Amino acid sequence: MKIIAVYSSKGGVGKTATAVNLAYIASQSEHRILLCDMDSQGAASYYYRIKAKKKFNRSRLLQGDYDRYIRGTDFPNLDLLPAHFSFRNLDLALHGKNNQGSRRILVDLLTPLKDDYDFLILDCPPNLTLLSENIVIAADCLVTPVIPTTLSVLALNQLLKLFKKVDCEKRKILAFFSMVERRKKMHLGVMKKYKKYPIFMKSYVPFMAEIEKMGMYRRPVGSAGRKSHGQLAYKLLWEEIQSRRLN
Ligand SMILES: Nc1ncnc2c1ncn2[C@@H]1O[C@H](COP(=O)(O)OP(=O)(O)OP(=O)(O)O)[C@@H](O)[C@H]1O
Ligand SMILES: [Mg+2]
Repeated sequence: MKIIAVYSSKGGVGKTATAVNLAYIASQSEHRILLCDMDSQGAASYYYRIKAKKKFNRSRLLQGDYDRYIRGTDFPNLDLLPAHFSFRNLDLALHGKNNQGSRRILVDLLTPLKDDYDFLILDCPPNLTLLSENIVIAADCLVTPVIPTTLSVLALNQLLKLFKKVDCEKRKILAFFSMVERRKKMHLGVMKKYKKYPIFMKSYVPFMAEIEKMGMYRRPVGSAGRKSHGQLAYKLLWEEIQSRRLN
């Protein structure tokens, strides 16, 4: 089982759109996928039309009592662990649980799933906290969307600092340009400047109306069977992630 965290400390850069679509594409090639919605906003759960059961909450998650709250989606091979509103305080709870090994709590929590799934895809909240440190340590790779603007690149630098702090290998980070608008000079300029760095994948995801509209249709792009350029962009991204980190 490999753990892929879709992570950035910056909000609104396309993490959830990426996690939701990568999970669907990976499940299409008959891998067993669990999409874990770690963000109390619950956007990934919403896209898959799934609500957490009332009894599920942060304490149950941290006690490892989450198995029975995993739900099937409308798609074969693809399950989802929904988010709960109480996840917003996951950080405080992690601090309270165990001060010594607190960066490894998530690894220990997810390990029991190793025979059930080929890939865990984590949709992460936009934080730079103890939860982020747990995520960085648990993940085999961190897929990081970067809108080609100066501020988004700054978030990538923060991630590099976090990696240094927790003494993790930088090779785990796979950044990609997200919501790219090629008519914008700034986007082209930032991409030109940074694409030579190995931390960036070659694939990128353009700004597309069909991705923006996912909230209306509440399903991954291309899953209704129509030809989808958005799906193709995520497919290429998934192939590159696999070739860079998952083989
Ligand atoms: N490639 C894209 N083209 C057009 N719209 C996009 C694209 N990617 C994401 N969006 C839209 O941008 C908004 C933010 O995207 P998303 O929710 O995936 O970001 P996020 O990083 O998960 O945000 P948050 O940090 O709040 O969790 C959403 O309305 C989404 O539909
Ligand atoms: Mg999100």
